[in-house]
Amino acid sequence: MDRIYITTPMYYVNAEPHLGHTYTTIIADTLKRYYRQQGVDAFLLTGTDEHGDKIAQAAKANGMSPQAYADKISAVFRATWDECGIDYDHFLRTTDDYHKKFVQEVLQKIYEAGDIYFGEYGGFYCYGCERFYTEKELVSGKCPDHQTVPAYIKEKNYFFRMSKYQQRLLETLESKPDLIRPERYRGEVLAFLREPLEDLSISRPKSRLDWGIPLPFDGEHVTYVWFDALLNYVSVLKHKGEEVFEAYWPRANHLIAKDILKPHAIYWPTMLMAAGLPLYDHLNVHGYWVMDSGKMSKSLGNVVRPLDMKKRFGMDAFRYFLLREMPFGQDANFSYDALINRINADLANNFGNLVSRVLAMQQRYFSGAVQRLGDWRQEDTALRDKFAQAEGEMKQHMAALQFHRALESLWGAIDHANRYIVQTAPFTIYKEEAQRPRVGEILHHLLEAIRTSAHLLAPFLPDTSRQLHTLLGISADEVNSRKPWGSFFAAGHKVSPPSVLFPRIEPEGEK
Ligand code: MSP
Repeated sequence: MDRIYITTPMYYVNAEPHLGHTYTTIIADTLKRYYRQQGVDAFLLTGTDEHGDKIAQAAKANGMSPQAYADKISAVFRATWDECGIDYDHFLRTTDDYHKKFVQEVLQKIYEAGDIYFGEYGGFYCYGCERFYTEKELVSGKCPDHQTVPAYIKEKNYFFRMSKYQQRLLETLESKPDLIRPERYRGEVLAFLREPLEDLSISRPKSRLDWGIPLPFDGEHVTYVWFDALLNYVSVLKHKGEEVFEAYWPRANHLIAKDILKPHAIYWPTMLMAAGLPLYDHLNVHGYWVMDSGKMSKSLGNVVRPLDMKKRFGMDAFRYFLLREMPFGQDANFSYDALINRINADLANNFGNLVSRVLAMQQRYFSGAVQRLGDWRQEDTALRDKFAQAEGEMKQHMAALQFHRALESLWGAIDHANRYIVQTAPFTIYKEEAQRPRVGEILHHLLEAIRTSAHLLAPFLPDTSRQLHTLLGISADEVNSRKPWGSFFAAGHKVSPPSVLFPRIEPEGEK
């Protein structure tokens, strides 16, 4: 059986879930549902990253112990994904015992193999990124990500011989062009690897920071947060048993944004090499959501919280916007205007109207009973073919993680269905008694268009798809039926009267 292992980053517990975290988690969920629908066994991992300076400092600022603080925020992440209907298979916390144990095992193994050594290091440390920067990487002396002046820290640390694996990583990237995608991020990593790679400091003295996993070979030091966190992708599979590990590793598709490209594209593969494990299948890197009004920040009061979005717009409408708006790999702009326009135009008008018009006519003309199909006319075949074409295109776009293009293709078919109504004019020809059987056929084809949409939409808008199946009177065990167009509905099968799927949104002065 085909299998895929999909992961989100383990989110830091120093902030509550916002738009950025939600986007990655939603695309992960969409991918999982998509692969499941294709008969692929998919496992989705998400969770929280809880060790390190950043978390210790946030806990302190909140007057809590790091553990109590991590417990609290991690629970918020988990509850949020539950509320959002994210179909994850495991929620990992880097403070889980099995994870800590695995990190120590790997450290010990790499240490014994001679790839970890003790040395002194001085460098510019950004707490926001939890990593050292070289002078060259800083922009006007500041961290390019956080625009803060990093602290100069000199201390004795353990180092991972990352440089030893530079050549092998470079060769792998050259021989596997889709290991890191889209191409622009692969290009960035290749450019980086053309410069000499430094070894990676992987410990912090306990005297400075004790919120971390102790090194198994030196209790005076704790593990550097990235060395700890990255191993989550494997620790969970090992925890579930050797068979689960064998089943899903290395079929990993990691999903991240560009902010954490370097740890995932350089630290992680070299760590896997040193641990004697095969590399992941793909590192999929998306861009950043930026706010119309500037940077999203607590102080500006413009943080987009997923549960607020669910309440105001509905989860599926919010999902639709995120998936439709961002071309995977590029940055995208978040604005309430764009969100409301898309919901009203694509969901309420275009798709919502199609469904309500068809169900209303079915009700009015035939009391909801599906009519028999006669000979197909050219426009009927064209409608079916348009949906088949959309499905084919969606497959290609999903393989390239082009969610927005997949939805665009489907909406092309939905547009076509709306035009089919105008062209065939069932509401006009119904007036002639002799034409009524044809009206029944037209509506039958339109119900097929809705049934096909419900199927193709399921990974993207799962609740809507469920609602549509209910309206069409399709039972749970029939939802995945791929019976050909025209042979699903028996004559006399009852569909429901319309109900509003996507209410029109009136702007309320959001910015
Ligand atoms: N803890 C690390 C990841 C360790 S994985 C082994 C971390 N956590 S984080 O909480 O900062 O999450 C970063 C991720 O959140 C990004 O890679 C992306 O998935 C998501 N996003 C956070 N802000 C974002 C945007 N503004 N736009 C898009 N996604 C971003 O880094």
